[in-house]
Order: sequence, then C-alpha cells, then structure tokens
Amino acid sequence: MFPSNNNDAFASIIGRSPVIESLIRSAQIVAAADVPVLIEGDTGTGKELLARALHQSSSRADKPMVTINCAALHADIVESTLFGHEAGAFTDARERRDGYVQRAAGGILFLDEIAELPLNMQAKFLRLVEYGECQRVGTNQIEKVDVRIFAATHTNLLKRIDQGVFRQDLFYRLGVVTLRLPTLHERRRDIPLLAEHFLREIAERSNAPACHFSNDALALLKQYRWPGNIRELKNVCEHVSALLPGETIEKDNLPQDILQAGKAVSTGYTLPEQGIDMEQLEIDLIKQALQHAKGNKSRAARLLGLSRDAFMYRLKKHGL
Ligand SMILES: Nc1ncnc2c1ncn2[C@@H]1O[C@H](COP(=O)(O)OP(=O)(O)OP(=O)(O)O)[C@@H](O)[C@H]1O
Ligand SMILES: [Mg+2]
Repeated sequence: MFPSNNNDAFASIIGRSPVIESLIRSAQIVAAADVPVLIEGDTGTGKELLARALHQSSSRADKPMVTINCAALHADIVESTLFGHEAGAFTDARERRDGYVQRAAGGILFLDEIAELPLNMQAKFLRLVEYGECQRVGTNQIEKVDVRIFAATHTNLLKRIDQGVFRQDLFYRLGVVTLRLPTLHERRRDIPLLAEHFLREIAERSNAPACHFSNDALALLKQYRWPGNIRELKNVCEHVSALLPGETIEKDNLPQDILQAGKAVSTGYTLPEQGIDMEQLEIDLIKQALQHAKGNKSRAARLLGLSRDAFMYRLKKHGL
C-alpha cells in the first residue's frame, strides 16, 4: 500500500540524513493506515512537527487534531477535561460539556508526554483505543467516539512500566507503530541544512537579510552535542539573526556554551616554543596508557581516544 494523500505534508520536516529519510518514508506509509502511532524522541527532536505531518497526510486531514499535554493536566479535573461531563456531574458543572476526546471526534487525538498520563486515565484510554468507547463524568452511559490516537514521549515507556506507573497493555496498543526521532547529534550532517532553513525563515519573517554561518562556525555547530536538539539550534539561529542581521556568523559570535564545548574538545595542550619529538611523545603516551590500564589493550586504546585497531597499529609501528 502506498499513501495517496498529501505527501507534501512532510516537506516541513527538513533533513536528508539516511536516518531521517527512512523515518519519513515509514511515516508516509503509516499516515495512510488508520492505526495508533507512538512517536519517541528526546526533547526538541520534532515529535510534534511529525505528528502534525502525519495528521495532514492522513485521511483525517480535514478533521481536527486535538493535542493533550499529559504533563500539564490538572489532577482535580483531569477526567472531565479529557472525557467531558454531564450537567450536574459536580458543583460547577452547570451544563453538559465535551472533553478533548469528543472535540477530536472524526480526527486525531494527540497525547503529548504520554508517560505523564495518570494511571487511572490510562485504563480509560485503553478502552478508547480498543473499543472506541468512553464515558463522561456523571453518567454510566457509554459513548462511541471515533478518534485515531497519536502519542509522543521523550521518556522510555518500558522503564515507566517497570516502575509500575505505565500500563503495559496500553503501551502495546499505542505502540502498534513506533516512529523514533533521532537526536540532532545522531543526524549532525543535517545541521547546515537545518541552520540555513531556520536563518532563511527568520529573515523572511522579520523582512531582513538572512545571516550565514562561516565554515568554522558550522564545524563547531556540528561538533556540539545539542542537548535541546533542533529547538536549541533554532534558538541559536534566532539569537544570531537578532544580533547580526544579514552578516556572516563567525565562530566567536556563537553562544558561550557552544564555544566552551568546542574548547573542551581540544586538549588544551600548548606546543612549546622549541617544539617536541612527536614520535617519542606518542611512545610515552602509549606506555602510560598501558600502565594505567594494567596492560589491558582495549582500555588503553580508550584512554587515548583510539579504536583498538588504531591502537594495535601504533603498538606495532613503535615495536612495543
Ligand atoms: N526536521 C525539522 N525541520 C524543521 N524544523 C524542525 C524539525 N524538527 C523540529 N523542528 C522545529 O524544532 C522545534 C521543536 O520541535 P517540536 O516541538 O516538534 O519538538 P518536540 O520533540 O515535540 O519537543 P518536546 O519534547 O520538547 O515537546 C519546532 O519549532 C519545530 O518546528
Ligand atoms: Mg512536543
């Protein structure tokens, strides 16, 4: 089966690294099937963007996608917020109200941060996923609602199951199809493309000329670990565009934490004026590494930041 729907929906997801191209290919196929989708990925990797693209490319594109941030649900009113209530169900319930679930009827319900969904609500969602049934607060009547569920998580749900705070049966129902977004570091070859896209977008929005990163600056951006992933890269682009509109962004114009991380990667070793004997230095370092590692060659290699093969080659080269 191949999706007949709007494949341009995925055009907003920038990236050409193999991992993201294969993810988009899977997502295009999955979007067309009317099954739940679980989206996994660290913070800022584009889970919500992917959910929107799946919605736009699905047969439910002309119906709403209603997003529930499970981490921000108010404990006292969580059930009526989600499933609605009858008039008189509780003190302030003057009239019958729809919840998120009814508002998503015919469309998509996007359960963001699903790991934070309270356990008693998980049971109710299981019923919704399995039978398309739910109950408003204040009635025993069963209501049929046709929704397709997308869920997103940045925490490992298997760990939550082990801790007894996430239902295994719900996990298996929601995870029929799982799409995992890579971290930005895992797809660092996309950094220039993403950065250029954001700089252009920001410039268009503010009607100003676009900035560009110098090659040195880009090299540093590719080396940085990006704990906040694509959101953090986008913020850096906002930052430099505001400070230096239309200019070439050099390494030193980058935010401090990126510069610091770049420096931390360098050894900090300064070459003495009179120079050194490189060959002898290498021999000394190898001997020291072997000593520290008590003769364990794999550990010694790791101490020098080398693969075992590269280490063995050097041992042989120096006759050690
Ligand atoms: N591949 C991409 N191409 C272009 N923009 C992207 C891409 N991925 C993410 N973004 C942008 O990065 C920002 C963060 O993305 P999004 O909100 O989808 O991440 P998230 O995984 O839901 O984050 P969180 O876990 O913090 O909720 C958004 O502004 C989004 O538009
Ligand atoms: Mg999100």
